[in-house]
Parts: sequence; C-alpha cells; structure tokens
Amino acid sequence: MKIIQIYGLNRHFDNGEERFHALRDIDLEVEKGECVILHGVSGSGKTTLLSIVAGLDQPSSGEVLVEGEAIAKLPDRHLSRFRGRHIGMIFQHYNLLEEFSVRDNVSVPLIPLGLKMDEVERRCDAAMQLANISHKARQSAGRLSGGEKQRAAIARALAADPEIVLCDEPTANLDRANARRFLEILGQLHDLGKTILIATHDPIFEELDFPVRVVEMEDGRIVR
Ligand SMILES: Nc1ncnc2c1ncn2[C@@H]1O[C@H](COP(=O)(O)OP(=O)(O)OP(=O)(O)O)[C@@H](O)[C@H]1O
Ligand SMILES: [Mg+2]
Repeated sequence: MKIIQIYGLNRHFDNGEERFHALRDIDLEVEKGECVILHGVSGSGKTTLLSIVAGLDQPSSGEVLVEGEAIAKLPDRHLSRFRGRHIGMIFQHYNLLEEFSVRDNVSVPLIPLGLKMDEVERRCDAAMQLANISHKARQSAGRLSGGEKQRAAIARALAADPEIVLCDEPTANLDRANARRFLEILGQLHDLGKTILIATHDPIFEELDFPVRVVEMEDGRIVR
C-alpha cells in the first residue's frame, strides 16, 4: 500500500518581485513500512517537503496524498485530528513549548485523541522512557540542553503511536550514544511496520540495520 503519494509537487515563496522555488516537480511514492532517507545540501528543500507531508505547509501546486487523503485539502479541524492520529514529526528546531514541562509537551499530540487521563500518563511515560528523557519530565522545555530538547521532541513525536514518523535532522544535537539509541528506536518502529522519512546529513544512518531508500535532493528537485 502506498502510504504517501506525491505527484507534481511545487512549492514556491514570493518575496516582492522575486519568486523562489523551494520544491520543483517532486514525484515520490512511499510504501507503508518503508524507510526513506532524504539527503541534500542545506537549502535543497528537505524541511519544506517534510512540512508539506505533515500538512503544516501547503503546496503551490501538485498533489499530496497521505493514507489516501489529500492532506492540503482537509479542513483545519480534521487536519489536526488526522495529523494527531497518523503523523509524528520531529522538528529540526524542536518546536517545543518552552514554558511547559517536558511531560506537558509530550502530551500535546495526545489531546486530539480524547484519551482518559491515565492512558495519557501511560503513553507519555512510555514515550519519554523510549527517548531517554524521563528524568527531565518535570523540567520546563526552555531549560533543557540541545540534546535533551531533541529527545523531548522525539518523545512527543512518538507519544501518539503514529503510523508515519517524519524526522528532520533528528540526531543533529545528540551525542553518539543517544544517536545510536535513536537508531535502535527507528529499528523498533520499523519492526512495528511504521513508515519513516528522515532528512539528515548524519552518516550515522548508514549504521541502520534494515533496508532504507536514499533520495537525493538538489535545488528543490529529487535527482535520484
Ligand atoms: N517561508 C519561506 N519563505 C521563503 N523562503 C523559504 C521559506 N521556507 C523555506 N524557504 C527557502 O526554501 C529553501 C529550502 O528550505 P528548507 O528548509 O526546505 O531546506 P533544507 O533542505 O531543509 O535545509 P537544511 O539542511 O539547512 O535544513 C531555502 O532556500 C529556504 O530559504
Ligand atoms: Mg531543514
């Protein structure tokens, strides 16, 4: 089953007279359970592509289907529910609520699911444990170190047990031990049949012990 389908996707940004093409004619199909690594120099469009798959940014033209849904066309209230159930994203810049505790941040994607309080607690605990951040559960996110923020962001992305996990430079601020731990988490997600997209420059992903597909991006295009 094709879980992500992208056809003729373009994204440009207008800045006065200038038009900048961040994504050009992207075609990409991802099978359920597949792991795709997006490579490409800074500015090649990786974050823009992941944001559109997550429904956080809109295509300028083209079609993007996630689990068969045209995600850009979902009304806002359906979109946040759809995203909550199906997509977990680890943001390049974490996007944590800095004033709130790690636990509160991790619980955010669980809100649209309408779970009982004790189930929310249970899932938060499990996700924080998995990401090795439980010991900071009560600390406000703004006071965490870079690597701790990254692990809090990983816990938040996984808390709702999403089918699709989007990872934007997920190891950029992790020490090698925590980066390897993250690879193990990816292995577990892969074994569970989750679909994983990773934008990264980090050669550590060559150590993944399951098959991945590498997609090279250049100037907003997929070149191979
Ligand atoms: N909102 C925006 N307005 C104008 N230009 C934008 C906007 N968002 C992204 N861009 C431009 O689109 C290009 C692609 O950005 P993107 O963040 O997708 O790159 P990236 O491959 O993720 O880079 P990095 O490896 O540095 O994270 C960049 O040149 C960026 O400046
Ligand atoms: Mg980026």
